[in-house]
Order: sequence, then structure tokens, then C-alpha cells
Amino acid sequence: MIDEKEGKIWAIGGGKGGTGKTFITSSIGTYLAKNRRRVVLIDVDIGGANLHSFLGINRPKKSLTNFFDMGTPLKNLAVKTGIGNLSLISGDIHSLSSDSIKFTQKLKLFRHIMKLNRQYVIIDLGGGSHNNTIDTFLIADKMIAVVEPEIIAVENMYHFIKNALFRKLRMSLKEYGFKEIIDHMWERREKYRIKNLRELIDCLKDSFSYIGDILDNEISDFTIYLILNKIRSSQDIFIGSSLKSILLKYLGINAKFVGYIEYDDSIWRSVRERRPFMLNYSLSRSAKEIEAFTENLIQGKELKLMRS
Ligand SMILES: Nc1ncnc2c1ncn2[C@@H]1O[C@H](COP(=O)(O)OP(=O)(O)OP(=O)(O)O)[C@@H](O)[C@H]1O
Ligand SMILES: [Mg+2]
Repeated sequence: MIDEKEGKIWAIGGGKGGTGKTFITSSIGTYLAKNRRRVVLIDVDIGGANLHSFLGINRPKKSLTNFFDMGTPLKNLAVKTGIGNLSLISGDIHSLSSDSIKFTQKLKLFRHIMKLNRQYVIIDLGGGSHNNTIDTFLIADKMIAVVEPEIIAVENMYHFIKNALFRKLRMSLKEYGFKEIIDHMWERREKYRIKNLRELIDCLKDSFSYIGDILDNEISDFTIYLILNKIRSSQDIFIGSSLKSILLKYLGINAKFVGYIEYDDSIWRSVRERRPFMLNYSLSRSAKEIEAFTENLIQGKELKLMRS
């Protein structure tokens, strides 16, 4: 049974380009919509918007350009996808690059996203660790990171999550008027012999016990949901558990490894056939894998691993 109280805004990111974020956004959205959830997908991959292609529809005429340039309310930009219950807000922005969005515009976008009247709002982020991308990731109730089982993707994902946590801690310390402390220590990290974010956090707690509780609360709330995509052997699945251990050891954060998708040529084939994968190949093994981790996401559960 789907628990509607579980997070409403889901953001799909992860740092590296091409790991499958957009494919996964479209597939999760299609699956939820098929199960009678009212869903809107938002493509915020500014400059590289291609979510419509995974849904098998033309590039929508309305897009975030209308929001930023003409002030059209975000809810008026949702277009039908041909799948009942599923609409799309396209990210195609002609005049802007991600780093040229002003701070006030960004906050306005976030306010509008939070007011969208849907059971699920699913945000597809672009690759890279730009501050705008990370801030969008941070507004979500569920922060989902997609990673491939290869070293560059793992490194980029680690970098992305570390930056996200750092920004989150900075923002919360700012609320309490302590932002300068974290900036001061990080800028002088050599003097304080701080090698990584975990050590920075420990050092902050040791030096300023009164901010320890703030940091502990933020870190314990900071859950990352991991999806491993394009796996090529059953051994690859265990990389998910290794990633969890790395995030705990070096950043002190909890990650939940919710599932994986195998490498499957029918995924690009369905794009070429202009049909959503979850409709066209609904009985395939990879479609079942997507269903399984979407259910885990809804219920906040992890993948159950069985070692042979
Ligand atoms: N499990 C998979 N097996 C095979 N191909 C896949 C799989 N997942 C995604 N792909 C393919 O990988 C390519 C990249 O996917 P996608 O565009 O979803 O990545 P992305 O993370 O959104 O990239 P970007 O960072 O550029 O936005 C696409 O051609 C897609 O069809
Ligand atoms: Mg993409």
C-alpha cells in the first residue's frame, strides 16, 4: 500500500552526466502514474532538457523559459504526456545557462515547485555539481542519487553528495548565525589539520559544543537514496553497499541503497521507438527492477541483498 505521507518532492541527481537520471525520472513517473498517482515531472536540466524524449513526446512549446522570462506560473507550464496522471514541465531554456539563474529567480522557482498540487513532484537534475543543481536537490523530500558501477561515476557522486551536505550544513548554521564559523574553519583547514568534511564536522563539534546538536540533527536527517544503474554482473550490485559504507565513513551520513537496473539495450531502443520504456517493455527484467526500487522509495525501504 502506498503511503502518501512519504516525501512528495523527489529529486534525481548524482553528479556525473549520462548515468541514467533522466531515464529513471521518466520511468519512476510512468510507473507511479500507471498506479493512479498524480505525478508531475520537472526537467531542470537547463541547456540539456531531454525528458520529453524518454516519454516519447515532442519538445513542449511551453517551458521554464516562460517562467523565468515572462513570469508564467509554474503550474501553467505542465503539459500532458499522453500517459494518464502524468504531466511534464519542460526545462528547455533558450536564453539562460544554469549558472546565470539569479538567486531570487531560484527561490521563486522553489516556492512554485513546493506549491504544485500533485501527489508526486519528480525533479530531473542535470549532471555536474553546480550550486543551482545542488540547491534544487536539497529542496527535495527524497534526494535520490543515480550512479554507475564505475570509478568516475562513484567519484563524481561522492563529490556531489559532499557538496550537497556542506551547503546544507552551511545553510542551517546560517539560520543560527554561525555560518562564518564553518567558512572560517574550512578556509583554514590546513592549519586545523582538517582533511575532509567528516573531520571538519568533528572539529566544529569539538570547538563549539553548542553547534554540535544542530549539526547532528542535520546530518541524521540527511538521507540519500542510491540507485545503481547499468550494472553488468550480479557482483556489481554489491557496489551499492560499498557506497553506503563510504558515505558513512567519510561524511557520516546514512544512505539507503534502494535498487539497481541492469544494462539493457531495450532502453535506448524504446527512446528510438518513441515509447516510454515502462509501457513498451513493461514485462522486461529491467522494468521489474525499476518497479522494485520505486516501491522501496515509496516505503523508505532498502534493497534486501542476499549473498550467495
Ligand atoms: N540501464 C541502462 N542500460 C542501457 N542504457 C541505459 C540505461 N540507463 C540509461 N541508459 C542510456 O544511457 C544514456 C544516458 O541516459 P540519461 O540521458 O537518462 O542520463 P542522464 O544521467 O540523464 O544524463 P545527463 O547527465 O546528460 O542528463 C541514454 O542513451 C539512455 O538510453
Ligand atoms: Mg539527463
